Amino acid sequence: MRALANGAEATTLAAVQPAFARAISPATRLCAVLGWPVRHSASPAMHNAAFAALGMDWRYVAHAVKPEHLGEALRGACRLGYAGVNLTVPHKSEALRLVDLADPVSTTLQAVNTVVFEALRDGEWTSPGCAGACDGPVRMHGYNTDADALLRALREDLAIEPRAARVLLLGAGGAGQAAARRLADEGVGELHLVNRTEAKAEALARELEAAHPAVDVRVGYPAGDIEIVINATSSGLRSDDPLPYDAARFSPGQADAAYDMIYRPAETPFLRGAKSAGCRTANGVGMLLYQGAAAFELWTGRSAPIDVMRGALEEEIYGGMR
Ligand SMILES: NC(=O)c1ccc[n+]([C@@H]2O[C@H](COP(=O)([O-])OP(=O)(O)OC[C@H]3O[C@@H](n4cnc5c(N)ncnc54)[C@H](OP(=O)(O)O)[C@@H]3O)[C@@H](O)[C@H]2O)c1
Repeated sequence: MRALANGAEATTLAAVQPAFARAISPATRLCAVLGWPVRHSASPAMHNAAFAALGMDWRYVAHAVKPEHLGEALRGACRLGYAGVNLTVPHKSEALRLVDLADPVSTTLQAVNTVVFEALRDGEWTSPGCAGACDGPVRMHGYNTDADALLRALREDLAIEPRAARVLLLGAGGAGQAAARRLADEGVGELHLVNRTEAKAEALARELEAAHPAVDVRVGYPAGDIEIVINATSSGLRSDDPLPYDAARFSPGQADAAYDMIYRPAETPFLRGAKSAGCRTANGVGMLLYQGAAAFELWTGRSAPIDVMRGALEEEIYGGMR
C-alpha cells in the first residue's frame, strides 16, 4: 500500500499479488485491448489489479492487431467468449463501423473505445459477456467511455464544472474532436478551438454550430479569462516538442486550470508553464483511469475500484521514475 495524492491508500498489483496469482481456469473471463502498436498500453495493469482486488477470476490482455485485421479480431474475440475489449489507436473509428450496435455517445463521437460482447439467452441480449453460450447468436455492442472520462477528470481532478465554462481546446485530432463534441453536448459556455491545421478547427466549429446552436463556438484564442485550457494535441510527448499554443497570442495565466491529455511524461512543458502561471493542473492519467473504470463497469456490472486502478496505473506508467 502507498499513499496517493488525495490521501487515500492505493492497493498496487504487487500488494494484491496472491489473489492475482490464482491459476487461470476454464472459467476465467477475458477482456483485452486491441491496438497497433499496443505494447506500451497501461490498461492491462489497471484492469488486472482491479480484478485481483475484487477477487474476480478475470484477466485483461493486450493484442497487437493490424488495422486490416480488426474485424476478424473482434469477431474472433466475441466467439471465443471474451467479455469485451477496449480499442486504442488506430482502431476507434473503424470499430464503430464494425459493431452491431453503437450507443449514442459513440455515434456522436464517431468512435468506439469499448465493446461489450453480448449473447442471446432466453430471447434477451445479456451481458456481461457470453461465456458458455457462444454456440448461439452473439453481438458486439459498442460504447465510447473516453469523452465522459474527460468530463469526470475535469470535475474530480480539477474541480471544473464543464457546463457553462469558458474553454480553450488545443487540438482537433481524434481526441480533440471527441472532447469538443462532448463538451458542446454538455452545454459548455464558450468553446475556443485552436489547431495547428486551422482548417480542421474550422470544420469542427461548423459541425458544432450546426449541432449545438446554443453553444458559443469560436476558432482562435480567447481575448480574456477562461476557466480551463485543455491540451488535446500530441505536442509534449517528446521533450523537444514545441508548446501546443502560440505564446504570443495566449498566456496560461488567462486560465484557472490546465488539463493535458498527455500522461507520459507526467509533466509536459505545457503543464509546467501553466503551473508557474498559477493554474491548477492535471495530466491525462485521470482520463485514462476513468475511461477504464467505465469499461470495467460495462463488462463486469460491478463498481470499479478507482483507487486500486489509479495506483496500478501510476505504478505501471511512472514506476521507479519517482
Ligand atoms: N489520457 C488519455 O486517456 C488520452 C486519450 C486519448 C488521447 N490522448 C492523448 O491526446 C493526444 C492526441 O491524441 P489524438 O488521438 O487526438 O491524436 P491525433 O488524432 O494524431 O491528433 C494529433 C493532434 O495534435 C496536433 N499536433 C501534433 N503535433 C503538433 C505540434 N507540434 N504543435 C501543435 N499541434 C500538434 C495535431 O494537429 P494537426 O491537425 O495540425 O496535425 C492534432 O490536432 C495524444 O497525446 C494522446 O496520447 C490521451
